[in-house]
Amino acid sequence: MKFKRWFYLFLFLLFMINLFFMLIYGKKTFEAQDPVKPPHRYDYHFALISEEIDNEYWRIIEKGARDAAEKYNVYLEYLGPKQADNIEQLKFMDKTITGKVDGIIIQGIAHSYFYQLTNKAFERGIEIVTVDTDVADSERKAFVGSDNYMAGVQAGSAMIDDTKGDQYVGIVTGRLDALNQQLRIKGFKDAIKKENRIKLVDIEVSNITKSGALQATYDLLKKHPHINAFYGTSALDGSGIAQVVNQFKLKQRTYIIGFDILPQTLHLLEEGSIDASVVQYPYEMGYQSVEALLQLKTGDESKTLHHTLTRVIHRNDIQDFYEKGTVYENHTK
Ligand code: BGC
Repeated sequence: MKFKRWFYLFLFLLFMINLFFMLIYGKKTFEAQDPVKPPHRYDYHFALISEEIDNEYWRIIEKGARDAAEKYNVYLEYLGPKQADNIEQLKFMDKTITGKVDGIIIQGIAHSYFYQLTNKAFERGIEIVTVDTDVADSERKAFVGSDNYMAGVQAGSAMIDDTKGDQYVGIVTGRLDALNQQLRIKGFKDAIKKENRIKLVDIEVSNITKSGALQATYDLLKKHPHINAFYGTSALDGSGIAQVVNQFKLKQRTYIIGFDILPQTLHLLEEGSIDASVVQYPYEMGYQSVEALLQLKTGDESKTLHHTLTRVIHRNDIQDFYEKGTVYENHTK
């Protein structure tokens, strides 16, 4: 009798254990599947082709473009070479034309292949908008970015206002064949022409990398130890210059003006290692270039030149700059 009771109790326990596992693991089997969502339909497919895919400055352009793309229901592809290289960059452009995107946003490149590709895109009804750097005599339909010549003038004027006595200037530039860099140098030279005490000594190239900027600054100082002012014309040049100047512990006070306000540049400005920087608005460039393409697509009234602002900031402006929330990552229109 006692055995029977134990036996039933055992069976009951076994049943309960089974029930428990069935409820836990069987749930998924019997659960109704979520209905399959239809694929999201976008109105347009655009490609954004950068100078260098992981460059911090280009990532900010990408962010602006992505935010606009989301707002306007555009599918946005972001592409670019691992390291700045005109031909690699243009191959991406060629591929996206073959892939029949609706529009391309690309940094303008002064190369015959670029002209060929803008023609090819034009024939196929694919609109091209240049961003950051323009090639005005190509088949591109609009440009969104800084007035690079004026930005160079601003840099030169700042150097005149901020310094006293003779200045022997070394320039570290992103790339000699980049039109925006050429314009920034031309503007700078024109601005300092009127001031005899400011003399341009030499120019070296950074290939838009921080390590390149370190090397370029090092080379300049080795060749011309009397350099006492630097001008960096692309986003990472200023921080490369500052690092070498700090290491060299130069006798002379060295003035440094850079470009852009990536976080490390702002930090160097705050601590006084960089004297000034020419601010650009890459987020706005990305955002507005998507809008410019859309205007072209929809046939809305569209203009050709969309100049985003540039201005020089010093250490004292940083607080104000933060407080006013000056368009860094916010579209203000
Ligand atoms: C320039 C870009 C360049 C970037 C490099 C910016 O100042 O406008 O053309 O790609 O610097 O970091």
